Amino acid sequence: MNPLNKIIVDKETSFNPIWVMRQAGRYLPEFRKIRKENTNFINLCLNEKLASEITLQPLRRFDLDAAIIFSDILILPYGLGQKVAFEKNFGPRLGELNLNEVANVNEIEFTEKIHRVYKAIKKVSSDPILNNKNTIGFVGAPWTLLVYMLNQQSPKKNLKKDFFEDELLINRALLVIEKFLKIHIKNQIENGANIIQIFDSWAGLLGEKYIPNYIYTPTLNLVNYVRSLNVPVICFPREIKNYKEFCDIVEPDAISIDYNVDPKKILRDIKIPIQGGLDPKILLTDKETLKKEASKYLDIFRNHPYIFNLGHGVLPQTDPNMFDYLVKTVKNF
Ligand code: CP3
Repeated sequence: MNPLNKIIVDKETSFNPIWVMRQAGRYLPEFRKIRKENTNFINLCLNEKLASEITLQPLRRFDLDAAIIFSDILILPYGLGQKVAFEKNFGPRLGELNLNEVANVNEIEFTEKIHRVYKAIKKVSSDPILNNKNTIGFVGAPWTLLVYMLNQQSPKKNLKKDFFEDELLINRALLVIEKFLKIHIKNQIENGANIIQIFDSWAGLLGEKYIPNYIYTPTLNLVNYVRSLNVPVICFPREIKNYKEFCDIVEPDAISIDYNVDPKKILRDIKIPIQGGLDPKILLTDKETLKKEASKYLDIFRNHPYIFNLGHGVLPQTDPNMFDYLVKTVKNF
């Protein structure tokens, strides 16, 4: 059985598998080299040869337990025909959302437009490096995708002032997003993904009164859908105020926590397997601090099914030697 399934399905506590969000990315010189020659990020995600190579790069260097496919949550709006570009020093910039057009896209057109992502997953999951390891497929949560699709850029701290004005538009958009997320999830699983992670990076932006309709209900629908395909699902509702309530209502198979979560409190509150937590900035300090901070999580979750990960993506300025030290610390614990 794959290491993540042993934790999530069998509730093992005798070892801690490790993978890291954004493990395929800019802190690796071999990634930066490919990226420099491929200035269009979406095209890079759609190049199955390079995307699968980038996915495997961290596994060639470090003793990681899972590969997360090199793609992006914004491949979904791209597949729906919304313009998506990644600008240097700015981040993602999207074209205006035309909901009527997007709602008319059919499953075949959508799958055809991004089918090379699935080819990359197929290549990765059949690579011998992944023998007995997990291939993680992922999607953005409906709420986070809605944020990008309507806001057309990262919301940083605040959404556009009139963001919540057109409730009908929001509800229609969430339904369309959910429909295509299910298709995207199914396609990833059919091509070899054996775990799905749902990234809700902007869960922390929402006020309490919106959370049931914009987070709980659509995410619950996705969790139930993934489970119907017999694949475990991890949720990462980053910076949501009430992780316990989220878990009670959405019931994912495992929960990924951000670095503001108190690990001792979450251990008391939550029964399901836990993932992540360590602040990625700790990787920018020194080995002694890194070992101490990583061991803190390993110690607290000693008797709880726990997948080691960070509380958000690994930072581009991270030294690969520190990353290596982290993996070894976890493996030797
Ligand atoms: O984790 C992995 O290694 C797999 C690949 C992956 C990427 N994006 C590649 C990427 C994953 C899982 C994502 C998820 C993603 N994308 C999220 C959710 C997680 C999170 O970070 O909160 C979000 C919000 C996005 C949207 C996105 N993509 C943003 C805001 C940006 C720009 C900011 C940044 O970090 O540069 C991206 C670009 C992006 N996605 C890069 C990578 C490797 C950097 C691209 C580059 O080289 O310039």
